[in-house]
Amino acid sequence: MTLIANIVGARPQFIKAGPISKALATAGFDELLIHTGQHYDPLMSEHIMDDVGLRQPDVNLGVGSGSHATQTSGMLEAIEAVLLDYPIDAVIVYGDTNSTLAGALAATKLGILTSHVEAGLRSFNRRMPEEINRVVTDHLSDLLFAPTENAMSHLADEGLDGRSQLTGDVMVDALHSIDLDQIDTPAWSAEPYYSATIHRAENTDDPARLEAIVEALDRLHLPVRLLAHPRLRKRLMTYGIEPTRSLQIHDPLPYAEMLATVRASQGLFTDSGGLQKEAFILRVPCVTLRGETEWPETLHGSWNTLAGPEDDLEGLMSTVRTSETTSPFGDGHAAQRIVSALGERLDSDSGMD
Ligand code: UD1
Repeated sequence: MTLIANIVGARPQFIKAGPISKALATAGFDELLIHTGQHYDPLMSEHIMDDVGLRQPDVNLGVGSGSHATQTSGMLEAIEAVLLDYPIDAVIVYGDTNSTLAGALAATKLGILTSHVEAGLRSFNRRMPEEINRVVTDHLSDLLFAPTENAMSHLADEGLDGRSQLTGDVMVDALHSIDLDQIDTPAWSAEPYYSATIHRAENTDDPARLEAIVEALDRLHLPVRLLAHPRLRKRLMTYGIEPTRSLQIHDPLPYAEMLATVRASQGLFTDSGGLQKEAFILRVPCVTLRGETEWPETLHGSWNTLAGPEDDLEGLMSTVRTSETTSPFGDGHAAQRIVSALGERLDSDSGMD
């Protein structure tokens, strides 16, 4: 028996782990699914897991919210205890959250083979907590699975090419597993609208910046349907910011419904990494409310534009886009490649080849 621990905790990780979990089962590996509890609202966790076919976690560490140090150290301690309790052969961590960092640190310190899925992404903005998590996790991990050529070149620049492999992006696998034509969208989607999400600390935690973004979206000429992360709702309340015109705040949607809702919209305003890519693949115009992106491939053909609340957001949405199609994020078989590379490495470590 070979036991692989899959460590997840936040919404985008449930999506990434879905295809990997299926590929592990197909390859005959046993899986221990560990949920750190970073995201605990059912709308942010259970509903998303159901959509991507991720089973109930075997262990939920219930760590919840806190400052970066409190959250990360709580996870580190709790993950180490679980990894000591089970005969784990390898650990897989995903993306760039505090759960990723805690998982990689706990596992590598115990000498367990550690894989990082979505390695090599860089914003080169060290004020983002995610950037710190990415860099540290890449340098800790034994196997680095990069979604794009660009990510591969970042890893090479940091001397990590010996541990890196280009696999494509598991989020493409997840997207391909859903037939969006079969998915219902909310009743309000019958009329034209823009879709939106805002959750990055750089946008939500500075009251002046958040107010400027809300005002800019509120001025647009179509309803803006903002599927709000709990962080955003909390900040709007704390700062007393209330949209009064176009901007409508809704609860987050499950994964499949979110994709279908973005696809049916006239355009997406976001600061999410995953959604920038999904909009690109679905050919929905996207304006990213940030100064940089970890997914520069999406800027190709102007499908995605970086902008701030001071810019002409509606003008940017209607920019002419190329009809040329590119697939910089892979062919939808990333999970299979990752699991077979992991299997080969485990075989070679145990002297089986
Ligand atoms: C985290 C990740 C970010 C990722 C995002 C996806 C880090 C540093 N950041 O940000 O990279 O893009 O997840 O959503 O790990 N909250 C709830 N209910 C929940 C989850 C969170 O109310 O289920 C609240 C927390 O109380 C906290 C805020 O949301 O006030 C932020 O949560 P946290 O998990 O710290 O970071 P995210 O903003 O979700």
